This record gives sequence, structure tokens and C-alpha cells, in this order.
Amino acid sequence: MSTTMRRTSLALAVMLTMMVVGARAAEPPGNVSQGAALFRTCAACHSLIPDRNMTGPSLAGIWGRKAGSLESFDRYSSALKASNIVWGDKTLDAWLKSPSQFIPNNHMPFAGISDARQRTNLIAFLKQASAGQMPAGGQGGMAPDFTDLKKAGADRQVRSIRICRDSYFVTTADGKIADFWEPNLRFKTDSSNTGPPSGKPVIMPAGMMGDRAFVIFAAPEEISAFIKPQC
Ligand code: HEC
Repeated sequence: MSTTMRRTSLALAVMLTMMVVGARAAEPPGNVSQGAALFRTCAACHSLIPDRNMTGPSLAGIWGRKAGSLESFDRYSSALKASNIVWGDKTLDAWLKSPSQFIPNNHMPFAGISDARQRTNLIAFLKQASAGQMPAGGQGGMAPDFTDLKKAGADRQVRSIRICRDSYFVTTADGKIADFWEPNLRFKTDSSNTGPPSGKPVIMPAGMMGDRAFVIFAAPEEISAFIKPQC
């Protein structure tokens, strides 16, 4: 073999090695299905459905989005809004490592994930899922379980609520009456598209003993108009 040929084959070998390394680097780092499992922690507060906001904003389309900029979410902290951060692999990694260190005074009640490998897995999952590409099995149990209150059965549809001293009496569409000690019945509103029809609140059990519940109205002004004092 001539020196030139040897040089050429060496150069070729180097090039091939670089191509292989390059191809490796282009693979998504991180284990998507392990990341999906980790996302369950986030799913208590975040959905991946566009504009389906919960305690936190929807994470659909988060890549390339400026922090604190989702139009439909009204509860961003001023810290997040003023951060001038754009979400991507690096910024998400820093945020998930320690939200309070990355953006002090933000309002996300989450301590962070110290394990770098876990963050990489989670980010790999988020990258696919937030772009609407659900990895096999990834969305199973991942979609938040929003009960459509418009489809509540007769045992949940509230006909009337009466209050007598410290007791509420709730009559449902199936004719049953449930009684509650005043502090055990709570009132909520749900204006989302899975909320109750207006003027037709829904009762949901809360707690193991059956002595607690909440009544969900479509709008706050319905609440006191609905509750009749009568002993
Ligand atoms: C207990 C509720 C809660 C949990 C758990 C939670 N978050 Fe959040 N998240 C929030 C809230 C609230 C905000 C808005 C913070 C602010 O405005 O300062 C937020 C903001 C974010 C943002 C910025 C969104 C934007 O539009 O700028 C990202 C990204 C994010 N969370 C990702 C995650 C991930 C990933 C997890 C899981 C590891 C997670 N969060 C866990 C409540 C939560």
C-alpha cells in the first residue's frame, strides 16, 4: 500500500467514525417511556392538551414557547413572565433541576429533580408528547381524567339546596336527600367545557366517610341564589 493510499484510508476511517458519532448524537437522548412514567408527577398540575390548563399551564407546544406566555393561562407569576426564557432542552433541564434557583419567586410548587438522567428521560418524553406525538403507551393514563359534568347521572345532578342552622340538605335529581354539617359541604365553580350546565350544579363526593362533598356550579353568581334558607 502506498503512503497516499494509507493516508486516504485513514482519512476515510476517521470520516466514518465521525459519521457514526454524528448519527448517535442525533438520536433522542433519554428513555421516553421512563420519562412518561416520571411525567405522572407533573400530570397532577399540567396537561398536554392545548389550552387545557390546570393548576399549571398546558405544556402542549412548550418547545420554543417564551416562559409565561400562554395566552389562555391567567395565573403566571410576574417572575416567570419577566424571565425572558424560551423553553428548550437546556432551559427545561435547568428549570426541572431546581425551579426556584432557575427562576426565583416563581409559583410552581415543585422542588425539582436532582437526578440528571431522570431529567433527560423526562425531557425526551416531553419533547414528543408536547408536540402531539404520543409515544406508544405514553398517553395511557396520562390524559387528565376530566369528568364531563354535563353528563352527570341523576344521583349527581343537584335539584335544590336548603340550609337550616348548621346543616345543608341537598336534593338530587333521583329524589334522594343528603345532609351535611356546614363545614363539610364546599362550593366550587367550573367554567371549562367539561363543567356543569349553567343553573344545574353537580354534587361530587369528597373523602372516604361519605360525610363530605362539593357542589360545582357553572358560575359564582349562581351559588347563593341556589341555596334557600329553610328549617
Ligand atoms: C403542584 C403543581 C405543579 C407540579 C407538580 C408541576 N408544575 Fe409545572 N407549573 C406549575 C405552575 C403553577 C406553573 C406556573 C409557575 C409560575 O407562573 O411561576 C408551572 C410552570 C411550568 C412550566 C412553565 C410553563 C410556561 O408556560 O412558561 C413548565 C415548563 C413546567 N411547569 C413543567 C413542569 C414539569 C415538567 C413538571 C413535572 C416534573 C411540573 N411542571 C410539575 C405547577 C406545577
